[in-house]
Amino acid sequence: MCVIEMSRSRVQSSSRTSLRAKAQGKGVRKSAKKGWRTAATSDRHELYELAVQTPLDEVKFMDKIFKSINNRLPATFREDFCGTHILSSAWVIRRPSNHAYGVDLDPSVLAWGAARRKQQLSPSARKRLHTVQGDVLAHKGGLVDVVAAFNFSYYIFKKRAQLLRYFKFARTRLQKDGVFFLDCYGGYESFSLQSEERNLDGFTYIWDTVKYNPISGEVLNHIHFQFPDGTQIRKAFTYDWRLWTIAELQELLADAGFKRSTVYWEGTDHATGGGNGIFRKATLGEACAGWIAYIAAEK
Ligand SMILES: C[S@@+](CC[C@H](N)C(=O)[O-])C[C@H]1O[C@@H](n2cnc3c(N)ncnc32)[C@H](O)[C@@H]1O
Repeated sequence: MCVIEMSRSRVQSSSRTSLRAKAQGKGVRKSAKKGWRTAATSDRHELYELAVQTPLDEVKFMDKIFKSINNRLPATFREDFCGTHILSSAWVIRRPSNHAYGVDLDPSVLAWGAARRKQQLSPSARKRLHTVQGDVLAHKGGLVDVVAAFNFSYYIFKKRAQLLRYFKFARTRLQKDGVFFLDCYGGYESFSLQSEERNLDGFTYIWDTVKYNPISGEVLNHIHFQFPDGTQIRKAFTYDWRLWTIAELQELLADAGFKRSTVYWEGTDHATGGGNGIFRKATLGEACAGWIAYIAAEK
């Protein structure tokens, strides 16, 4: 059985992570100390990366799964909805034979990544990281070993026909033995209007679900950041999504032509009740308050 360990925190903080946050004492207001972050001195993209992204772990995860399927390591990677392309940066750092191609509609987030992430790479790694301002439904580029759509970005496709079109297109961008990776979230708390806080190093991350329509499945979430001096960045990011279920996703992946899709479900840390960061192949999940999972779909 493929066992992958990750210490991750996601856009959607599941009840597993919120239990941990509560244990750490959430929302505690402290008097500001010299050098601490404030709303005025913070950059929302940097906070987002710190709060919800674990790129090295995710690249390792994709390597392991790909190797377990194909008995070789992947080299080429397409990151759809790449944002600041931190995942693509981790991909090119991982091996000198690796190349990454990030696709995002928003020129400002690509520019932020170019200035902040790309500049930190070695000249060799920088040459192997390519980004394009484009639509994930239209930008072709070359065929790759791995396509990833992480942090639930594909939830912007709210209708079955739109998501099917995206899955079909992503499949066409893969080599014969290519693998498409997705993440997803759910659990009964994700259908309720609530705000969850997680204390991080020098700031608090707040995941705020402000609307859920049980008829259409549409969900509206905001990310806010709060600082020790009491200042906040409200609505740093807003997500107007459809909350897809894993069953729907697997059916759509099959309809799009993927020959197999496998779910990787997180285990439980029995001491804390939270997730243990270990993702295993699963066909039976746990009906818990909040969960995150990965899907690997084989072309
Ligand atoms: C939730 S952020 C994800 C950033 C990053 N992938 C991550 O894992 O955190 C969603 C990103 O998708 C981009 N986006 C939305 N629709 C898109 C589309 N049709 N084609 C390309 N990028 C798109 C947005 O500009 C935004 O940067």
